[in-house]
Amino acid sequence: MKPSTAKNQVQEKNKLLQASYTDPQFSAAIISWQKQHGRHALPWQQTNDAYRVWLSEIMLQQTQVSAVIPYYQRFLQSFPTVFALAAASSEQVMEHWSGLGYYTRARNLHQCAKLVVAQYQGQFPADPALLQQLPGIGRSTAAAISAFSYGTLAAILDGNVKRVFARVFGIDGYPGSKPIEDALWLRAEALLPRQDIQAYTQGLMDFGATLCTRSSPSCERCPLQTRCLAYAQGRTAELPVRKPKKLQKHKQALMLVLIHEGQVLLEQRPDSGIWGGLLSLPEIGGMRDFQAAEVLAMSEQLPAARHLFGQFGELTEMLALPDFTHVFTHFKLHVTPLRAQISKRHAMVAEARYVWADMATIQSAALPAPIKALLLSLAQ
Ligand code: ADE
Ligand code: SF4
Repeated sequence: MKPSTAKNQVQEKNKLLQASYTDPQFSAAIISWQKQHGRHALPWQQTNDAYRVWLSEIMLQQTQVSAVIPYYQRFLQSFPTVFALAAASSEQVMEHWSGLGYYTRARNLHQCAKLVVAQYQGQFPADPALLQQLPGIGRSTAAAISAFSYGTLAAILDGNVKRVFARVFGIDGYPGSKPIEDALWLRAEALLPRQDIQAYTQGLMDFGATLCTRSSPSCERCPLQTRCLAYAQGRTAELPVRKPKKLQKHKQALMLVLIHEGQVLLEQRPDSGIWGGLLSLPEIGGMRDFQAAEVLAMSEQLPAARHLFGQFGELTEMLALPDFTHVFTHFKLHVTPLRAQISKRHAMVAEARYVWADMATIQSAALPAPIKALLLSLAQ
């Protein structure tokens, strides 16, 4: 057996690719569908500027097009170039991201802008392998940026594309598992067209997002219908195979809304973990697992709340606000907000992570969406 060097692996892969490139009609169908029925007016389609393409692809990683558009436009107004973004403070960047969710993206984005300025004189590299080394850019995003900005023949494989492939080629097995994902990447590369890569890449995305949708694919007007295995076998509802289920996790937190003379006390969250780097309300028993027997735990926390409030000032009144639940990808967070007024503020303990913020500035503060909504409702 030959030793498995990196070069060997590349050669093996190329052989596989060539062997499996048997289907030029697939890309032809996607490209022609895109030209007639795909999306053409999205703001980031009006440019080849790698900075704009990159920004849009990062925002679109976990967020829908309609939600991204206003954020994208506001971002570009404030940070029109990668140099402007690299020079911004992290607070400014977080403020502009606030509400979009998945905040690691914002920190990586800022980091990435600084690296592109420092290492590449502000020019995003064209090679997907180099793009992929930058923070926040995975294999599929690197390919999309390179294809849209520079016309590189590179394969994308996001959730929409996996669904289309799983159906058309009748692929059994969960597409997020390593062996299935590897097989899907080989296919994605083998199916690349020799030209029109931008229409093909956008076409794959749009096809999955608007025609071959998860719960109601429009097979009756699909150009791939005659070659779709899932359609032929009546398995469009079964494919792609769903992720094996895990038990839903619940966590709970008691959050403190401490108000004094039109200001509210906020706490900077640690960089790692949910809402990392954002401001939020101070909390007790934060985010810990929730067990049925523990429903009363909140009342046990009250002395702790009183103690914590006490260090900031003299308490005049404490009031529980209605509970709310926020759904994250991996768990549900049940929040009990507790509101307190203080009559006199103590000289602040010298802790930089606490800040008093004017209620009037809440709208533009770098807060998680549900916390912002809670504070805005109190301000009314
Ligand atoms: N999702 C990821 N990238 C996208 C793009 N360029 N257009 C529409 N949706 C997308
Ligand atoms: Fe998707 Fe239906 Fe077209 Fe198959 S026939 S690719 S399931 S829309």
